[in-house]
Amino acid sequence: MPVSSDEVVIKATGLTKVFKDFWGRPKARAVDNVDFEVRRGEVFGLLGPNGSGKSTTIKMILGLLYPTKGHLTVFGASPRDVKTKARIGYLPEESYLYRYLNPGETLDFFGNLFALDSGDRQKRTEQLIEMVGLNQARTRTVGEFSKGMQRRIGLAQALINDPDLVILDEPTAGLDPIGCREVKDLILALAKRGKTVILSSHLLSDVEDVCDRAVIYYGGKIQAQGTLQELLSERDQVRITAPALSRETMDKVLEIIRADTGAEVRVDHPTQNLESYFLGVVERARAQAETSGATSGNQVAAFIRGGAEAGASQSDRVLERLTKAPPTAAPVVEAKAPESAVNNARLDALTKSEPSSEPAPPAAPAPKAADLSKANEKLSGLLGGKKP
Ligand SMILES: Nc1ncnc2c1ncn2[C@@H]1O[C@H](COP(=O)(O)OP(=O)(O)OP(=O)(O)O)[C@@H](O)[C@H]1O
Ligand SMILES: [Mg+2]
Repeated sequence: MPVSSDEVVIKATGLTKVFKDFWGRPKARAVDNVDFEVRRGEVFGLLGPNGSGKSTTIKMILGLLYPTKGHLTVFGASPRDVKTKARIGYLPEESYLYRYLNPGETLDFFGNLFALDSGDRQKRTEQLIEMVGLNQARTRTVGEFSKGMQRRIGLAQALINDPDLVILDEPTAGLDPIGCREVKDLILALAKRGKTVILSSHLLSDVEDVCDRAVIYYGGKIQAQGTLQELLSERDQVRITAPALSRETMDKVLEIIRADTGAEVRVDHPTQNLESYFLGVVERARAQAETSGATSGNQVAAFIRGGAEAGASQSDRVLERLTKAPPTAAPVVEAKAPESAVNNARLDALTKSEPSSEPAPPAAPAPKAADLSKANEKLSGLLGGKKP
């Protein structure tokens, strides 16, 4: 488990968000008087049923929504502070990517919005594509990516500015078990480097595997919060794990326990979880089969530092891009983003909401069977990079 420090990264006190209707009448109390703290190096889980206030909380942390009441600081400052935003990486629930760009162009585009120079952009793009295991798909456009592949490129995008705080909304949605494990390992590796990670997920096993602490929302209120250990341990029971015992020894042990407690005792064999069983099966299969030279994913990109400040000033634009659907008509983005500083004309073109007058290009071709099988080979290959 990652080690968190005492440094408070996010502090929410009495945080409340009420959505109002056109006439200013309260419509939904999305977040209702919540208090929580997230510390540096911690993996913090936001749990709760649909509509319970998780995304609204995330949007307030990102400075995209104003709290109606209460107080919220991120790195000791307002979430709206540009310097604060530059230290955050965000993977939205829905990836809004430019379907006609390939992975390299996508990352170059976001690097450009953070005003990274061209050398840095290139280096980070290479490392991130490698890290999320998309090396073999680098010539394809993200519009033809499967859902899991889109999550992978989204994750790479969230790390391009080497953020200190990474906010991931449903990061493993649509990923196969290998991809899920890789994302979870990556989250743990980021936390080890002192990054703070906020994770919203409906997959409870993911939260259980990686989070240090979690809050559970219901109806905009926090119903429970604490370390996973605090939330899950059943204090009135103990479990003893031992090597297989002889019948005689087992009878003796059971006799002692029954005499002592007078209660029923249950004996069974521990089972491994389905995830570790699945990964074991695939790993054995991979060891026996030829691979097609797929590279290993899941090594943390070398440029990602241990909690240093990322110096970007264009983060407002990045958040804007991430939370707005890109135009679906003509491809207004050229294949390569400009090498120099941010090109305002191009950004303006990208943020235009009216449909372009250019004729719409033909729809992106569906992935071919050969491509899919290549992707599958790649996924098997990714296991090569896993820890023993
Ligand atoms: N822009 C908005 N205008 C009005 N109501 C909103 C708005 N955004 C969210 N809400 C309401 O706020 C409540 C909390 O929504 P939120 O999106 O935070 O839930 P969530 O926990 O992220 O749910 P999910 O698991 O479905 O993503 C819901 O009742 C929702 O309808
Ligand atoms: Mg949500």
